[in-house]
Amino acid sequence: MKIKALILAAGQGTRMKSEHSKVLHKVFDKALMEYPILAAKYVGAHEICMIVGHKAEEVQKALGETVSYVLQKEQLGTGHAVMQAIDFIDETGEVLVLYGDTPLITGETLERMISFHRQSKNGATVLSAVVEDPTGYGRIVRDENQRFTKIIEQKDASQAEKQIKEINGGMYVFEAGLLKYALSQLTNNNIQKEYYLTDTLEILLSNGYKVDAITAESANDILGVNSREQLAEVTEIMKQRINLKHMTGGVTIVDPGNTYIGSSVIIGKDTLIEPGCIIEGNTQIGENCHIGYQSKIQNSVIANHVDIEISVITDSFIDEGTHIGPFAYLRPNSRIGKNIKVGDFVEIKNATIGDGTKISHLTYIGDADVGENVNFGCGTVVVNYDGEKKHRTTIKDKAFIGCNTNLIAPVLVEEGAYTAAGSTITKTVPKNSLAIARAKQENKEEWVTKKRMK
Ligand code: UD1
Ligand code: CA
Repeated sequence: MKIKALILAAGQGTRMKSEHSKVLHKVFDKALMEYPILAAKYVGAHEICMIVGHKAEEVQKALGETVSYVLQKEQLGTGHAVMQAIDFIDETGEVLVLYGDTPLITGETLERMISFHRQSKNGATVLSAVVEDPTGYGRIVRDENQRFTKIIEQKDASQAEKQIKEINGGMYVFEAGLLKYALSQLTNNNIQKEYYLTDTLEILLSNGYKVDAITAESANDILGVNSREQLAEVTEIMKQRINLKHMTGGVTIVDPGNTYIGSSVIIGKDTLIEPGCIIEGNTQIGENCHIGYQSKIQNSVIANHVDIEISVITDSFIDEGTHIGPFAYLRPNSRIGKNIKVGDFVEIKNATIGDGTKISHLTYIGDADVGENVNFGCGTVVVNYDGEKKHRTTIKDKAFIGCNTNLIAPVLVEEGAYTAAGSTITKTVPKNSLAIARAKQENKEEWVTKKRMK
Protein backbone atom coordinates (compact mmCIF):
# COMPACT_ATOMS: atom_id res chain seq x y z
CA MET A 1 0.00 0.00 0.00
CA LYS A 2 1.40 3.39 -1.01
CA ILE A 3 1.60 5.76 1.91
CA LYS A 4 2.59 9.41 1.88
CA ALA A 5 3.12 11.62 4.92
CA LEU A 6 2.17 15.23 5.55
CA ILE A 7 3.82 17.00 8.45
CA LEU A 8 2.30 20.22 9.76
CA ALA A 9 4.87 22.78 10.79
CA ALA A 10 3.53 26.19 9.82
CA GLY A 11 2.60 27.43 13.30
CA GLN A 12 4.49 30.23 15.01
CA GLY A 13 5.28 28.68 18.36
CA THR A 14 4.94 32.02 20.18
CA ARG A 15 5.47 30.52 23.62
CA MET A 16 8.96 29.34 22.72
CA LYS A 17 10.02 33.04 22.69
CA SER A 18 12.49 32.25 19.96
CA GLU A 19 13.85 33.85 16.80
CA HIS A 20 13.83 30.39 15.22
CA SER A 21 11.11 28.10 13.97
CA LYS A 22 9.75 25.95 16.78
CA VAL A 23 10.36 22.70 14.91
CA LEU A 24 14.09 23.46 14.66
CA HIS A 25 14.61 23.35 18.42
CA LYS A 26 16.47 20.24 19.37
CA VAL A 27 15.81 17.19 21.48
CA PHE A 28 19.34 15.82 21.84
CA ASP A 29 20.96 15.64 18.43
CA LYS A 30 17.89 16.12 16.24
CA ALA A 31 15.47 18.93 15.51
CA LEU A 32 11.88 18.34 16.74
CA MET A 33 10.61 17.79 13.22
CA GLU A 34 13.14 15.06 12.44
CA TYR A 35 11.44 12.63 14.83
CA PRO A 36 8.04 12.49 13.08
CA ILE A 37 9.91 12.27 9.77
CA LEU A 38 11.83 9.23 11.03
CA ALA A 39 8.63 7.66 12.38
CA ALA A 40 6.90 8.20 9.00
CA LYS A 41 9.83 6.57 7.21
CA TYR A 42 9.66 3.66 9.65
CA VAL A 43 6.13 2.86 8.46
CA GLY A 44 7.17 3.13 4.83
CA ALA A 45 6.10 6.66 3.87
CA HIS A 46 7.79 7.00 0.50
CA GLU A 47 7.14 10.73 0.09
CA ILE A 48 7.04 13.30 2.86
CA CYS A 49 5.70 16.83 2.51
CA MET A 50 6.17 19.52 5.16
CA ILE A 51 3.57 22.28 5.51
CA VAL A 52 5.67 25.32 6.35
CA GLY A 53 4.71 28.89 7.22
CA HIS A 54 6.52 30.79 9.94
CA LYS A 55 10.28 30.83 9.22
CA ALA A 56 9.68 28.58 6.22
CA GLU A 57 13.08 29.27 4.63
CA GLU A 58 14.88 28.28 7.81
CA VAL A 59 13.01 24.97 7.96
CA GLN A 60 13.67 24.24 4.29
CA LYS A 61 17.34 25.05 4.67
CA ALA A 62 17.64 22.68 7.62
CA LEU A 63 15.98 19.70 5.91
CA GLY A 64 17.13 20.31 2.34
CA GLU A 65 15.81 18.15 -0.46
CA THR A 66 14.98 15.08 1.62
CA VAL A 67 11.31 16.14 1.77
CA SER A 68 9.05 18.42 -0.27
CA TYR A 69 7.43 21.63 1.00
CA VAL A 70 4.17 23.48 0.71
CA LEU A 71 3.78 27.01 2.00
CA GLN A 72 0.80 27.90 4.17
CA LYS A 73 0.94 31.70 4.02
CA GLU A 74 -1.69 32.30 6.68
CA GLN A 75 -2.36 29.85 9.50
CA LEU A 76 -6.10 29.36 9.24
CA GLY A 77 -6.22 26.00 10.99
CA THR A 78 -5.03 22.43 10.68
CA GLY A 79 -7.59 21.66 7.94
CA HIS A 80 -6.46 24.72 5.99
CA ALA A 81 -2.86 23.55 6.38
CA VAL A 82 -3.66 20.16 4.81
CA MET A 83 -5.70 21.86 2.02
CA GLN A 84 -2.50 23.61 0.88
CA ALA A 85 -1.05 20.19 0.05
CA ILE A 86 -3.99 19.09 -2.08
CA ASP A 87 -1.72 18.41 -5.07
CA PHE A 88 0.49 16.15 -2.95
CA ILE A 89 -2.50 13.96 -2.07
CA ASP A 90 -3.28 11.21 -4.60
CA GLU A 91 -6.66 9.64 -5.38
CA THR A 92 -5.52 6.27 -4.07
CA GLY A 93 -3.23 5.04 -1.31
CA GLU A 94 -3.02 6.43 2.21
CA VAL A 95 -1.97 9.71 3.76
CA LEU A 96 -0.44 9.96 7.20
CA VAL A 97 -0.85 13.35 8.89
CA LEU A 98 1.59 14.24 11.69
CA TYR A 99 2.77 17.37 13.50
CA GLY A 100 6.32 18.67 13.36
CA ASP A 101 6.34 19.46 17.09
CA THR A 102 5.52 16.01 18.57
CA PRO A 103 8.89 14.24 18.73
CA LEU A 104 7.83 11.35 20.97
CA ILE A 105 5.71 9.69 18.30
CA THR A 106 7.28 6.33 17.47
CA GLY A 107 7.28 4.22 14.35
CA GLU A 108 5.78 1.37 16.41
CA THR A 109 2.77 3.48 17.45
CA LEU A 110 2.15 4.58 13.86
CA GLU A 111 2.45 0.96 12.77
CA ARG A 112 -0.28 0.00 15.26
CA MET A 113 -2.50 2.82 14.04
CA ILE A 114 -2.02 1.91 10.37
CA SER A 115 -2.64 -1.82 10.82
CA PHE A 116 -5.78 -1.06 12.84
CA HIS A 117 -6.87 1.29 10.04
CA ARG A 118 -6.32 -1.37 7.38
CA GLN A 119 -7.88 -4.23 9.31
CA SER A 120 -10.97 -2.14 10.13
CA LYS A 121 -11.15 -0.89 6.52
CA ASN A 122 -11.55 2.64 7.85
CA GLY A 123 -11.77 5.75 5.74
CA ALA A 124 -9.85 7.57 8.45
CA THR A 125 -8.25 6.66 11.77
CA VAL A 126 -7.08 9.08 14.43
CA LEU A 127 -4.62 8.45 17.24
CA SER A 128 -6.04 9.30 20.65
CA ALA A 129 -4.65 9.27 24.17
CA VAL A 130 -6.20 9.08 27.59
CA VAL A 131 -4.86 11.82 29.86
CA GLU A 132 -5.51 13.09 33.38
CA ASP A 133 -5.77 16.70 32.27
CA PRO A 134 -7.34 17.06 28.82
CA THR A 135 -7.37 20.89 28.90
CA GLY A 136 -6.61 22.46 25.54
CA TYR A 137 -6.97 19.31 23.46
CA GLY A 138 -9.76 18.28 21.16
CA ARG A 139 -11.95 15.60 22.81
CA ILE A 140 -12.93 12.29 21.20
CA VAL A 141 -16.71 12.09 21.41
CA ARG A 142 -18.18 8.54 21.37
CA ASP A 143 -21.81 7.40 21.43
CA GLU A 144 -23.44 5.15 24.03
CA ASN A 145 -21.95 2.13 22.21
CA GLN A 146 -18.46 3.66 22.41
CA ARG A 147 -18.49 4.28 18.68
CA PHE A 148 -16.52 7.30 17.48
CA THR A 149 -18.79 10.18 16.49
CA LYS A 150 -16.62 13.31 16.27
CA ILE A 151 -13.86 15.43 17.70
CA ILE A 152 -14.86 18.57 19.54
CA GLU A 153 -12.32 21.31 20.21
CA GLN A 154 -11.92 22.63 23.75
CA LYS A 155 -13.23 26.04 22.72
CA ASP A 156 -16.34 24.55 21.09
CA ALA A 157 -17.02 21.91 23.75
CA SER A 158 -19.97 21.78 26.14
CA GLN A 159 -19.38 21.34 29.88
CA ALA A 160 -20.14 17.61 29.52
CA GLU A 161 -17.75 17.21 26.58
CA LYS A 162 -14.99 18.98 28.52
CA GLN A 163 -15.06 16.09 31.02
CA ILE A 164 -13.92 13.61 28.35
CA LYS A 165 -10.39 12.37 28.98
CA GLU A 166 -9.81 10.72 25.64
CA ILE A 167 -8.14 13.40 23.55
CA ASN A 168 -7.12 13.87 19.93
CA GLY A 169 -3.38 13.35 19.55
CA GLY A 170 -3.40 15.08 16.17
CA MET A 171 -2.10 12.16 14.12
CA TYR A 172 -4.17 10.49 11.44
CA VAL A 173 -4.18 8.05 8.60
CA PHE A 174 -6.62 8.73 5.77
CA GLU A 175 -7.61 6.99 2.57
CA ALA A 176 -6.13 9.58 0.22
CA GLY A 177 -9.17 10.06 -2.03
CA LEU A 178 -11.49 10.41 0.96
CA LEU A 179 -9.25 13.02 2.57
CA LYS A 180 -9.37 15.01 -0.67
CA TYR A 181 -13.14 14.80 -0.72
CA ALA A 182 -13.55 15.74 2.96
CA LEU A 183 -11.23 18.75 2.59
CA SER A 184 -13.47 20.05 -0.20
CA GLN A 185 -16.37 20.02 2.25
CA LEU A 186 -14.63 21.81 5.16
CA THR A 187 -16.00 25.07 6.52
CA ASN A 188 -14.84 27.36 9.31
CA ASN A 189 -18.13 27.58 11.19
CA ASN A 190 -16.70 27.42 14.68
CA ILE A 191 -15.67 29.68 17.54
CA GLN A 192 -12.13 30.12 16.20
CA LYS A 193 -13.19 30.64 12.55
CA GLU A 194 -10.56 28.05 11.62
CA TYR A 195 -10.67 25.17 9.15
CA TYR A 196 -10.43 22.20 11.49
CA LEU A 197 -8.85 19.02 10.13
CA THR A 198 -10.80 17.22 12.85
CA ASP A 199 -14.05 18.03 11.04
CA THR A 200 -13.02 15.80 8.12
CA LEU A 201 -13.72 12.79 10.34
CA GLU A 202 -17.35 13.76 10.95
CA ILE A 203 -17.75 14.52 7.24
CA LEU A 204 -16.54 11.03 6.27
CA LEU A 205 -18.70 9.40 8.92
CA SER A 206 -21.83 11.19 7.74
CA ASN A 207 -21.05 9.99 4.21
CA GLY A 208 -21.11 6.40 5.38
CA TYR A 209 -17.37 5.73 5.72
CA LYS A 210 -15.87 4.05 8.77
CA VAL A 211 -13.91 6.32 11.09
CA ASP A 212 -12.36 5.36 14.40
CA ALA A 213 -9.85 6.38 17.04
CA ILE A 214 -7.12 4.10 18.38
CA THR A 215 -5.62 4.92 21.76
CA ALA A 216 -1.84 5.20 22.05
CA GLU A 217 -0.32 2.78 24.59
CA SER A 218 1.62 5.68 26.04
CA ALA A 219 0.03 9.13 26.24
CA ASN A 220 3.57 10.51 25.97
CA ASP A 221 3.57 9.60 22.28
CA ILE A 222 1.40 12.58 21.42
CA LEU A 223 3.07 15.20 23.66
CA GLY A 224 3.67 18.41 21.74
CA VAL A 225 6.26 21.06 22.43
CA ASN A 226 4.91 24.57 22.83
CA SER A 227 7.34 26.02 25.40
CA ARG A 228 10.89 25.60 26.61
CA GLU A 229 9.53 23.82 29.67
CA GLN A 230 7.78 21.25 27.48
CA LEU A 231 10.95 20.92 25.43
CA ALA A 232 12.79 19.89 28.60
CA GLU A 233 9.97 17.50 29.62
CA VAL A 234 9.99 15.81 26.24
CA THR A 235 13.80 15.57 26.32
CA GLU A 236 13.62 13.88 29.72
CA ILE A 237 11.10 11.29 28.45
CA MET A 238 13.17 10.70 25.32
CA LYS A 239 16.28 10.16 27.46
CA GLN A 240 14.52 7.61 29.63
CA ARG A 241 13.16 5.73 26.62
CA ILE A 242 16.49 5.59 24.82
CA ASN A 243 18.51 4.59 27.90
CA LEU A 244 15.98 1.90 28.77
CA LYS A 245 16.26 0.51 25.24
CA HIS A 246 20.04 0.21 25.58
CA MET A 247 19.88 -1.31 29.06
CA THR A 248 17.35 -3.85 27.82
CA GLY A 249 19.81 -4.64 25.03
CA GLY A 250 22.59 -5.42 27.52
CA VAL A 251 24.40 -2.10 27.97
CA THR A 252 25.31 -0.96 31.49
CA ILE A 253 24.45 2.69 32.06
CA VAL A 254 25.76 3.63 35.49
CA ASP A 255 23.55 6.71 35.87
CA PRO A 256 20.71 6.77 33.32
CA GLY A 257 19.54 10.14 34.60
CA ASN A 258 22.84 11.66 33.59
CA THR A 259 23.58 9.95 30.26
CA TYR A 260 22.49 11.49 26.97
CA ILE A 261 22.28 9.20 23.97
CA GLY A 262 20.77 10.19 20.61
CA SER A 263 18.00 8.08 19.12
CA SER A 264 20.08 6.69 16.22
CA VAL A 265 23.03 5.51 18.31
CA ILE A 266 23.82 1.77 18.35
CA ILE A 267 25.66 0.23 21.32
CA GLY A 268 26.84 -3.37 21.71
CA LYS A 269 26.24 -5.51 24.76
CA ASP A 270 28.44 -5.51 27.87
CA THR A 271 29.56 -2.00 27.08
CA LEU A 272 29.60 0.22 30.15
CA ILE A 273 28.80 3.91 30.04
CA GLU A 274 29.80 6.12 32.93
CA PRO A 275 27.92 9.25 34.02
CA GLY A 276 27.89 12.44 32.03
CA CYS A 277 28.46 10.97 28.57
CA ILE A 278 26.88 12.50 25.48
CA ILE A 279 26.71 10.14 22.50
CA GLU A 280 25.17 11.53 19.33
CA GLY A 281 24.47 11.22 15.62
CA ASN A 282 25.18 8.04 13.72
CA THR A 283 27.52 6.67 16.34
CA GLN A 284 28.05 2.92 16.63
CA ILE A 285 29.82 1.51 19.66
CA GLY A 286 30.83 -2.15 19.80
CA GLU A 287 30.66 -4.71 22.61
CA ASN A 288 32.64 -4.69 25.84
CA CYS A 289 33.67 -1.07 25.52
CA HIS A 290 34.19 1.24 28.46
CA ILE A 291 33.04 4.79 27.86
CA GLY A 292 34.40 6.78 30.77
CA TYR A 293 32.67 9.70 32.42
CA GLN A 294 31.94 12.92 30.55
CA SER A 295 32.99 11.73 27.13
CA LYS A 296 31.33 13.24 24.08
CA ILE A 297 31.13 11.06 20.99
CA GLN A 298 29.53 12.21 17.73
CA ASN A 299 29.06 10.36 14.42
CA SER A 300 31.83 7.90 15.16
CA VAL A 301 32.36 4.17 14.86
CA ILE A 302 33.99 2.45 17.82
CA ALA A 303 34.89 -1.23 17.59
CA ASN A 304 34.77 -3.80 20.44
CA HIS A 305 36.92 -3.57 23.59
CA VAL A 306 37.70 0.12 23.27
CA ASP A 307 38.36 2.12 26.41
CA ILE A 308 37.62 5.85 26.39
CA GLU A 309 38.05 8.26 29.27
CA ILE A 310 36.80 11.85 29.42
CA SER A 311 37.49 12.58 25.75
CA VAL A 312 35.80 14.23 22.78
CA ILE A 313 35.50 12.22 19.56
CA THR A 314 33.90 13.52 16.35
CA ASP A 315 33.42 11.83 12.95
CA SER A 316 36.13 9.28 13.58
CA PHE A 317 36.83 5.55 13.70
CA ILE A 318 38.52 3.67 16.55
CA ASP A 319 39.46 0.01 16.16
CA GLU A 320 39.54 -2.83 18.72
CA GLY A 321 41.53 -2.79 21.92
CA THR A 322 42.48 0.87 21.73
CA HIS A 323 42.65 3.19 24.72
CA ILE A 324 41.73 6.87 24.40
CA GLY A 325 42.24 9.57 27.01
CA PRO A 326 41.85 11.01 29.50
CA PHE A 327 41.43 14.37 27.80
CA ALA A 328 42.01 13.34 24.19
CA TYR A 329 40.39 15.22 21.32
CA LEU A 330 39.78 13.26 18.12
CA ARG A 331 38.60 15.65 15.42
CA PRO A 332 36.95 14.68 12.13
CA ASN A 333 38.39 11.93 10.00
CA SER A 334 40.72 10.38 12.53
CA ARG A 335 41.18 6.66 11.85
CA ILE A 336 42.73 5.04 14.87
CA GLY A 337 43.81 1.38 14.49
CA LYS A 338 43.94 -1.53 16.93
CA ASN A 339 45.64 -1.65 20.33
CA ILE A 340 46.73 1.93 20.21
CA LYS A 341 47.28 4.23 23.13
CA VAL A 342 46.13 7.80 22.69
CA GLY A 343 46.86 9.39 26.03
CA ASP A 344 46.21 12.67 27.80
CA PHE A 345 46.08 15.98 25.95
CA VAL A 346 46.52 14.40 22.55
CA GLU A 347 44.72 15.99 19.59
CA ILE A 348 44.36 14.12 16.31
CA LYS A 349 42.72 15.43 13.13
CA ASN A 350 42.35 13.97 9.63
CA ALA A 351 44.97 11.31 10.30
CA THR A 352 45.36 7.55 10.20
CA ILE A 353 47.21 5.84 13.01
CA GLY A 354 48.47 2.27 12.52
CA ASP A 355 48.01 -0.61 14.97
CA GLY A 356 50.07 -0.70 18.15
CA THR A 357 51.21 2.92 17.99
CA LYS A 358 51.67 4.89 21.22
CA ILE A 359 50.86 8.57 21.48
CA SER A 360 50.98 8.87 25.22
CA HIS A 361 50.87 12.56 26.00
CA LEU A 362 50.70 16.20 24.92
CA THR A 363 50.85 15.65 21.17
CA TYR A 364 49.19 17.11 18.07
CA ILE A 365 48.87 15.01 14.93
CA GLY A 366 47.05 16.69 12.05
CA ASP A 367 46.87 15.63 8.38
CA ALA A 368 49.20 12.66 8.80
CA ASP A 369 49.56 8.98 7.95
CA VAL A 370 51.21 7.15 10.80
CA GLY A 371 52.30 3.51 10.50
CA GLU A 372 52.22 0.64 13.02
CA ASN A 373 54.11 0.50 16.31
CA VAL A 374 55.29 4.07 16.12
CA ASN A 375 56.19 5.73 19.41
CA PHE A 376 55.57 9.41 19.96
CA GLY A 377 57.49 11.10 22.74
CA CYS A 378 55.76 13.66 24.87
CA GLY A 379 55.09 16.98 23.20
CA THR A 380 55.35 16.07 19.51
CA VAL A 381 53.79 18.54 17.12
CA VAL A 382 52.98 17.86 13.50
CA VAL A 383 53.27 21.34 12.01
CA ASN A 384 50.68 20.85 9.30
CA TYR A 385 49.79 24.44 8.45
CA ASP A 386 52.09 27.01 6.85
CA GLY A 387 49.65 29.89 7.23
CA GLU A 388 48.11 29.25 3.82
CA LYS A 389 47.89 25.54 3.18
CA LYS A 390 47.70 22.29 5.09
CA HIS A 391 50.31 19.65 4.21
CA ARG A 392 50.49 15.92 4.91
CA THR A 393 53.08 14.12 6.95
CA THR A 394 54.02 10.44 6.68
CA ILE A 395 55.57 8.45 9.50
CA LYS A 396 56.36 4.82 8.66
CA ASP A 397 56.20 1.71 10.89
CA LYS A 398 58.32 1.47 14.06
CA ALA A 399 59.54 5.05 13.86
CA PHE A 400 60.46 6.63 17.19
CA ILE A 401 59.66 10.32 17.52
CA GLY A 402 61.67 11.88 20.34
CA CYS A 403 60.06 14.18 22.88
CA ASN A 404 59.27 17.67 21.73
CA THR A 405 59.87 16.99 18.03
CA ASN A 406 58.37 19.39 15.49
CA LEU A 407 57.63 17.69 12.17
CA ILE A 408 57.30 20.44 9.56
CA ALA A 409 54.88 19.19 6.92
CA PRO A 410 55.13 17.92 4.27
CA VAL A 411 57.75 15.57 5.65
CA LEU A 412 58.53 11.85 5.69
CA VAL A 413 59.99 9.76 8.51
CA GLU A 414 60.98 6.37 7.09
CA GLU A 415 60.53 2.98 8.74
CA GLY A 416 62.40 2.46 11.99
CA ALA A 417 63.90 5.97 11.96
CA TYR A 418 64.46 7.98 15.16
CA THR A 419 64.25 11.70 15.75
CA ALA A 420 66.23 13.13 18.63
CA ALA A 421 64.29 14.89 21.35
CA GLY A 422 63.80 18.58 20.64
CA SER A 423 64.42 18.25 16.89
CA THR A 424 62.69 20.31 14.24
CA ILE A 425 62.45 17.95 11.27
CA THR A 426 62.17 19.55 7.83
CA LYS A 427 63.69 16.83 5.58
CA THR A 428 63.07 13.12 5.03
CA VAL A 429 64.55 10.95 7.79
CA PRO A 430 65.89 7.80 6.05
CA LYS A 431 65.10 4.27 7.18
CA ASN A 432 66.67 3.18 10.49
CA SER A 433 68.64 6.43 10.86
CA LEU A 434 68.66 9.06 13.61
CA ALA A 435 67.86 12.68 12.81
CA ILE A 436 69.17 15.31 15.18
CA ALA A 437 68.04 18.79 14.31
CA ARG A 438 68.75 21.05 17.27
CA ALA A 439 71.54 23.35 18.47
CA LYS A 440 74.48 21.48 19.97
CA GLN A 441 74.95 21.77 23.71
CA GLU A 442 77.89 23.86 24.84
CA ASN A 443 78.97 23.83 28.51
CA LYS A 444 80.69 26.93 29.94
CA GLU A 445 82.59 25.44 32.84
CA GLU A 446 82.57 27.28 36.17
CA TRP A 447 80.51 30.07 34.55
CA VAL A 448 78.23 30.27 37.60
CA THR A 449 81.08 30.26 40.10
CA LYS A 450 82.78 33.13 38.26
CA LYS A 451 79.55 35.12 38.07
CA ARG A 452 79.08 34.77 41.82
CA MET A 453 82.60 35.91 42.57
CA LYS A 454 82.06 39.21 40.69
C1 UD1 B 1 -5.10 20.40 17.27
C2 UD1 B 1 -6.41 19.64 17.12
C3 UD1 B 1 -6.82 19.11 18.47
C4 UD1 B 1 -5.73 18.22 19.05
C5 UD1 B 1 -4.43 18.98 19.08
C6 UD1 B 1 -3.30 18.03 19.48
C7 UD1 B 1 -7.56 20.70 15.28
C8 UD1 B 1 -8.66 21.61 14.89
N1 UD1 B 1 -7.40 20.53 16.58
O1 UD1 B 1 -5.29 21.48 18.14
O2 UD1 B 1 -8.03 18.37 18.35
O3 UD1 B 1 -6.09 17.78 20.33
O4 UD1 B 1 -4.11 19.51 17.79
O5 UD1 B 1 -2.15 18.77 19.73
O6 UD1 B 1 -6.89 20.14 14.44
N2 UD1 B 1 -0.59 24.10 12.23
C9 UD1 B 1 -0.31 24.54 10.95
N3 UD1 B 1 -1.13 25.44 10.36
C10 UD1 B 1 -2.24 25.93 10.97
C11 UD1 B 1 -2.53 25.47 12.27
C12 UD1 B 1 -1.70 24.56 12.87
O7 UD1 B 1 0.69 24.13 10.37
O8 UD1 B 1 -2.93 26.75 10.35
C13 UD1 B 1 0.31 23.14 12.87
C14 UD1 B 1 1.00 23.71 14.07
O9 UD1 B 1 2.26 24.24 13.70
C15 UD1 B 1 1.17 22.49 14.96
C16 UD1 B 1 -0.03 21.64 14.63
O10 UD1 B 1 -0.47 22.08 13.37
O11 UD1 B 1 2.31 21.75 14.67
C17 UD1 B 1 -1.13 21.73 15.66
O12 UD1 B 1 -1.53 23.05 15.77
P1 UD1 B 1 -2.09 23.62 17.15
O13 UD1 B 1 -2.55 25.03 16.92
O14 UD1 B 1 -1.13 23.36 18.21
O15 UD1 B 1 -3.32 22.66 17.38
P2 UD1 B 1 -4.78 22.97 17.78
O16 UD1 B 1 -5.53 23.43 16.56
O17 UD1 B 1 -4.81 23.75 19.00
CA1 CA C 1 -1.06 22.34 20.16
